[in-house]
Amino acid sequence: MSKILFLNACVRPESRTYILAQHVLDKMDGIIEEVKLEREQIMPLNWETLQKRDIYSQNHDFSAPMFRYAHQFVDADEIVIAAPYWDLTFPASIRIYFEAVTVCGLSFKYASDGTAQGLCKAKRIIYVTTAGGLISEYNLGYDYIKALSHIFYGIPEVICYKAENLDIKGANVKAIMENSIKEIGKR
Ligand SMILES: Cc1cc2nc3c(=O)[nH]c(=O)nc-3n(C[C@H](O)[C@H](O)[C@H](O)COP(=O)(O)O)c2cc1C
Repeated sequence: MSKILFLNACVRPESRTYILAQHVLDKMDGIIEEVKLEREQIMPLNWETLQKRDIYSQNHDFSAPMFRYAHQFVDADEIVIAAPYWDLTFPASIRIYFEAVTVCGLSFKYASDGTAQGLCKAKRIIYVTTAGGLISEYNLGYDYIKALSHIFYGIPEVICYKAENLDIKGANVKAIMENSIKEIGKR
């Protein structure tokens, strides 16, 4: 059975991003492991945890609990990210999550020329976002995940489903959402 990692960064109980992500997941086959980032409360690295992480990394010992998110990410066959469009990117929990996942020797390694080589199993990430206004070319959260995937993790395909303009006065939210759900259905 294929392992689908669902990174859920949605915060509002009635999250539209979550609704779209559910449509994506409904079309996939496999066992879904959900990481609800708000519940996980992952802490950013500080001096103490950074030092520990560096020592573990130097010894190539990744058995400590601090590496559990990285192991899960590396082992996933497919990854779905649900991230509301916040401040042109995503909720800060996503940035902290990827700080925990981007570990040299575990999710990537450096070649002798300084380029990174990905160590992750997944071939694809599906990124889902919804925005109050227009995203246009400033899909910076998606662009960031794409860059991490290509440069570090070796995950070749990153695609995005989105719904925009949901908070505009007079917006036909139902129609915008249905349109996005139709796009997902075409996949
Ligand atoms: C903290 C915060 C920051 C936001 N920043 C933006 C933004 O930069 N651009 C935008 O178009 N909408 C912004 N929004 C609106 C959300 O993108 C929009 O309401 C989205 O649909 C929320 O997703 P959800 O329904 O899954 O919670 C922001 C909302 C919040 C709460």
